[in-house]
Amino acid sequence: MEVIIKANYEEVCREAAQMVTAALRKKPALVLGLATGKTPRELYRRLVESQEDFQNAMFFNLDEFVGLPPRDPRSFHHYLQEHLMDHIRHDPRKVFFLRGDERDMERYASEYEEKIQDVGGIDIQILGIGRNGHIAFNEPGSSLGSRTRIKTLDAKTIVEYAGIFHSPDEVPRFSITLGIGTVMAARRIILLAAGPEKAEIIHRMVEGPITAEVPGSALQLHPLVHLVIDEDAAAKLARRDYWKWVYSNKWRVGQ
Ligand code: PGA
Repeated sequence: MEVIIKANYEEVCREAAQMVTAALRKKPALVLGLATGKTPRELYRRLVESQEDFQNAMFFNLDEFVGLPPRDPRSFHHYLQEHLMDHIRHDPRKVFFLRGDERDMERYASEYEEKIQDVGGIDIQILGIGRNGHIAFNEPGSSLGSRTRIKTLDAKTIVEYAGIFHSPDEVPRFSITLGIGTVMAARRIILLAAGPEKAEIIHRMVEGPITAEVPGSALQLHPLVHLVIDEDAAAKLARRDYWKWVYSNKWRVGQ
C-alpha cells in the first residue's frame, strides 16, 4: 500500500485527479470504477475541469440503493450524472452504473459481475471508506471474498443517510454492491479520505489486522493501492513519519 499524506482535502483530490488523467492518457479505453459520497466530489470537479476526453473510457460504479431508479435524485446513479458524467466527453454506451430498480436483483448482480469481467476488469477503482470501515456497501462482517450482491445496510449507515431521505424509516434497507472480492480484483485502487472523523478507521485499516470487521483492511492484500489522505485523516497513523519518508523518497521511473 502506498500512503500519500497531503496537506488538505483539495490536495488529496488534486493528486487523485492527476493519477486518473495520467492513466487515461496512457490507456484511453480505461475502465474506471467510480465511488460516491462526499469525499470524491472535488476529484470529479477536477476531472471535469481537466477537459480530458473520456470517449473511449468505460465506467462502472460501486453500489446503489435497492428500489431507487436512476432518475431518483437520491440514487448514486443520479449523483454520478450530476457531478461527473453530465460534464465530461464520454460515450453513454460505455457507462454501466448499477440500477436499483431491476426486477431480478440477484440475477442482475451476477450479470454485473460478469460484465466487469467481459470488459477485462477494472483498471482503476476509486474508493472512499466509511467510519465503520465499509468499502462500497460492504459493511463490517462482509466476507472478504464477496462478489456483487444484495447487502443489508448496517443500522448506523441507515442513520447516516437519514438526512437525504428525510427520516431513517425511508432509507432503503438493502443495497446492491460490488463485493470486497470484486474491489480486490481491480488492477489499481485509489482510496481517498479526509477529515478527523476518518482518522481512527484509517489507522485500523492500514495498521490493524486484516479482518472482516474492518472491510477496508482487506486492501492490505492488494498489490497496488494508493491511499491518498489529508493530515487530519492521517493523524492516528502510528507510522505517519514512515509513510511520509517513503513517499518523499519514492522510486520514480527513469530515476
Ligand atoms: P463519504 O463516504 O465520502 O461521504 O465519507 C465514504 C463511504 O461511506 O464510503
